[in-house]
Amino acid sequence: MCFRFGGKHKKRNPLNPPEGGLFACCKTLIQYKNSEHAQLSTRNWKPETSKNYLCGMEQVLQQIETLKKEIETLQIDSAKALEEYRIKFLGTKGLVKALMGEMKNVANEQKKAFGQTMNEFKQFAEAKYEEWKALAGNGTDDTAAKIDLTLPGDALPIGSRHPISLMRNRMVNIFQRLGFSVAEGPEIDDDFHNFTALNLPENHPARDMQDTFYISTDPAWLLRTHTSNVQIHEMQKGKLPIRIITPGRVYRNETISARSHCFFHQIEGLYVDEKVSFADLKQTLYFFVQEMFGKDVKARFRPSYFPFTEPSAEMDISCLLCNGDGCSVCKKTGWLEILGCGMVHPKVLENCGIDSNKYSGFAFGMGIERPALLKYGIKDIRLFSENDVRFLKQFTGAV
Ligand code: PHE
Repeated sequence: MCFRFGGKHKKRNPLNPPEGGLFACCKTLIQYKNSEHAQLSTRNWKPETSKNYLCGMEQVLQQIETLKKEIETLQIDSAKALEEYRIKFLGTKGLVKALMGEMKNVANEQKKAFGQTMNEFKQFAEAKYEEWKALAGNGTDDTAAKIDLTLPGDALPIGSRHPISLMRNRMVNIFQRLGFSVAEGPEIDDDFHNFTALNLPENHPARDMQDTFYISTDPAWLLRTHTSNVQIHEMQKGKLPIRIITPGRVYRNETISARSHCFFHQIEGLYVDEKVSFADLKQTLYFFVQEMFGKDVKARFRPSYFPFTEPSAEMDISCLLCNGDGCSVCKKTGWLEILGCGMVHPKVLENCGIDSNKYSGFAFGMGIERPALLKYGIKDIRLFSENDVRFLKQFTGAV
């Protein structure tokens, strides 16, 4: 920081600017400590102008005055000049800091006065800096002049959730309120979890309804045709009771058209516990459709067949577009089929190591695309997977 006796640390002190001005060093201030009028020894260094030695309180004041005058006369007209000023006076190695640092060498009875003088000087230098900085912000600076703060900002395009995600979130939310939790599983799974464990043994005719894509190098692996595989994984864990919903993507070997695709999304549900009944199933699904489609919607169960449930049913709701009067969407029936359901087949429970005499359960499964088509008035299922921003941005703000 400053010159030392013996000349070991002969660095130029910031108080000793090359163009002349103020000089200070430990020795100066030690002498100053001993006598207000002590003169600085020049034994180890040669200042440019000896008149600037700091060797007494009066001189300090005088030198501060000189610096103040220097500051007053400065022409700060660019960001560069401002930064140079900051470094020279206010920087960590600047004049103000360096002067302050000499406090330790000041005689105790002088410390207070020295401190006060220095603080005032510091505030003065800082205030000047802020003043110039503010002016630079108003256009003194070249770059600042080019910035027009009144111009409108660049709009940040806000993305939106995909309509399938929106629909899935709504569905999940309703079941979560009933105590169901979300479970997930693999999209590429083995034949056992997708078919066999679900009471669909090899060569079972019901497999035809869910033809899928097989891994060519090992056809024991396939793209799941429904999220029921997650139900099997969960039941195999052996932790009962189970109350889960399983949203996810599924695949089927279907011709792609406006109404069907080779992949789509499902939410399935499973509840296994002691004494779970068909009444529990109906009540759960009635609650779901009312929360999902409104209190006025009607629902009905039709007997059906699935190898993994017995008895099985399909659930229809009154057509959302014609309120049951009959239109092209409901094919003039007034009803829309929305899900399959039933009591979990005892064989499925046993396949997963669950005692079917003690436990029973219900399961249901539905697609996400179809309700999304209805809710948002979308006419072509392919739009969901084409990544056309013109389509997707219409859902900005939808929740
Ligand atoms: N897994 C059936 C399907 O994908 C849906 C379903 C699930 C039906 C559970 C009944 C019970 O078509």
